[in-house]
Amino acid sequence: MKGLILSGGKGTRLRPITYTGAKQLVPVANKPVLFYAIEDLIEAGIRDIGIVVGDTRDQIKAAVGDGSDFGCRITYIEQEAPLGIAHGVKIAESFIGKDRFVLFLGDNFLRDGIVPLVERFADDPEMNSQILLYRVKNPQDFGVAELVDGLVARVVEKPKEPRSDLAVIGIYMFDHHVFEAVNRITPSARGELEITDTIQYLIDHGLRVHPHVIGGWWIDTGKKDDMLEANRLILDTMETQILGAIDATSEIYGKVVVGKGAEVHNSVIRGPVIVGENARIINSYVGPFTSINYDCEIIGSEIEHSIVLENSKIIDIHGRIEDSLIGRNVEIYKSPIKPKAFKMMLGDYSKVGIL
Ligand code: DAU
Repeated sequence: MKGLILSGGKGTRLRPITYTGAKQLVPVANKPVLFYAIEDLIEAGIRDIGIVVGDTRDQIKAAVGDGSDFGCRITYIEQEAPLGIAHGVKIAESFIGKDRFVLFLGDNFLRDGIVPLVERFADDPEMNSQILLYRVKNPQDFGVAELVDGLVARVVEKPKEPRSDLAVIGIYMFDHHVFEAVNRITPSARGELEITDTIQYLIDHGLRVHPHVIGGWWIDTGKKDDMLEANRLILDTMETQILGAIDATSEIYGKVVVGKGAEVHNSVIRGPVIVGENARIINSYVGPFTSINYDCEIIGSEIEHSIVLENSKIIDIHGRIEDSLIGRNVEIYKSPIKPKAFKMMLGDYSKVGIL
């Protein structure tokens, strides 16, 4: 079997972070979301992986390379514009050939991996497709499936009036029949070739689409709060590992990972927390469910339940920062210049919550 990861698209719901970076590279517990997808495929024995890339192709290629660091072979497939998930499949036809494959949306996150699901699909040639479903409270935000007699009967993209609470999650398995579907369907009202129309085409042409309702948890990391939730869940599974230097005036509680070259001075860290390589935590408090990436500085400040991307600085902020996603090379500091006021330079679509 092969793997196909979609890592193009625009990431509008994570602006302004996605103005400068690919949404699939936003880190969860200091590791890009996309890497979890690659690792899930490898764990399921899939070593030949295609990645569909768009405008952010250079960043994705720089982060993933040829796959040798992961132990797989990566083939990049260029998508000229985000014309839909099914369009991503269509342009991958020559890479996939006649193989069965797993399609993995690069911003989807599944706690328990995909091993048994891939085994089940690989061993059953009667199955033309297997889709994974997850019960949600807001089905109108996803593709929604209706089941009849244990098979998928109908799939609708983001319906206003959902007929079930079963969201179609962004991990799908197909055989070669999917290429007939993606070559026959036409763009939807939003101008995209929809993966839900693709699945419906298979059903309407008598092919067998099996559902699998997953337990555990699944997250589509498209929005800030989803990123924070994924971060919380992954941090909870980590074990303590201290590679950096923690001085005697600091206190560490719970599961805490401190990377090489990092420095913790006169601070309190209450896990689960990860601090990246060469980060500096000085005279500060870092509370549960926080990921501080490499080269960051947290000085004289308090932060909890947040993600801070690399090389950002939070200095002398009074009042705790919580529930925040802070981008790369950001500086938040107490302004020494009068008048006493909030002084900001924020990218378009930034969001700042002030007391
Ligand atoms: O997360 C599950 C949902 O994913 C499903 O329930 C929906 O049926 C499915 O359409 C999809 O909905 P989203 O609105 O979340 O899709 P999004 O546009 O965010 O794209 C998902 C991923 O695919 C993302 O990593 C970007 C990538 N992508 C997307 C498009 C449209 C591409 O690489 N190329 C594209 O043309």
